[in-house]
Amino acid sequence: MSVNFCGVELAHEVVNASGTFDPLAARRTFGEVAFTDFPFSAHVTKTITVAARQGNRPPRLWEAPTSLINSIGLPNKGIDRWLEEDYPELRKLPVPLIVNVMGFDTDELLKLVGVVTGLEDVVAIELNVSCPNVETGTIIGSDPDECARTVDAVRGLTTLPLIVKLTPNATDPAAVAIAASEAGADAISMINTLRGLALDPATLEPWLGGGTGGVSGPGVRAVALAQTASVCAAVSIPIIGMGGVDSGASANEFLAVGATLVAVGTASFTDPMAGSRIAGELAGLRQL
Ligand SMILES: Cc1cc2nc3c(=O)[nH]c(=O)nc-3n(C[C@H](O)[C@H](O)[C@H](O)COP(=O)(O)O)c2cc1C
Repeated sequence: MSVNFCGVELAHEVVNASGTFDPLAARRTFGEVAFTDFPFSAHVTKTITVAARQGNRPPRLWEAPTSLINSIGLPNKGIDRWLEEDYPELRKLPVPLIVNVMGFDTDELLKLVGVVTGLEDVVAIELNVSCPNVETGTIIGSDPDECARTVDAVRGLTTLPLIVKLTPNATDPAAVAIAASEAGADAISMINTLRGLALDPATLEPWLGGGTGGVSGPGVRAVALAQTASVCAAVSIPIIGMGGVDSGASANEFLAVGATLVAVGTASFTDPMAGSRIAGELAGLRQL
């Protein structure tokens, strides 16, 4: 079931969604098998920023009947320590790496893309433009012009495929995708989480330390599918569809509306091997 994504041959269509599968933590818990039987056809890293971040104060997760609301806040060790400690280990994975980065301003993004582009085994860079841009106060991924300016700023720095990860919290994600594509993006990934609020049942105050959070899981799938279908119809670059994929059948829906790859996020929290299971179920559907 191999698939060509931006010139890279992948064993199947299922990759992990950024921030939802940590191969190093999986190896600590399950042993070497977490690497040798890696469940995805490529590994997408959690978002890396220039400086280390603690993330938001707890609590950071709220489980709802069909979804998860997180307020993680991009905790990560920062690019320098990632390069020193994580990258040498992640290179040992049997699959290629896609590195997800976010800059709080253009200079940060230039630094991140400049560093990542020189790394062996990295086959693409995913730009997380679904977070606040402190320069203009807007979410880059919700504003077509801002998104185009961001892609344009880094396009010349790398020959690696640039994947732009869109937010669903936008009036017209297809307009943002068109702007990203025209500015030189090679692919779009979508959706990031939907803004949501969970209240503590006892106090009716926000439960999450960060106030609001991002909703993911099967409960967002219909929204993700509609947005993915509209973006697939609007641009000719490949799309990585995600949002609530938890089975071969639901992955197949994203492929049916035009996605080239499918990413699995929240499903990996209840089943660390969800990626392989879903890839197997997809292959089974093809044989029917
Ligand atoms: C706990 C958690 C952490 C996440 N961290 C990131 C992140 O670091 N960078 C990013 O681009 N998306 C992040 N996401 C969003 C996912 O990559 C994905 O876009 C979203 O969860 C929808 O897919 P799903 O419904 O399969 O989880 C995170 C999602 C969750 C639930």
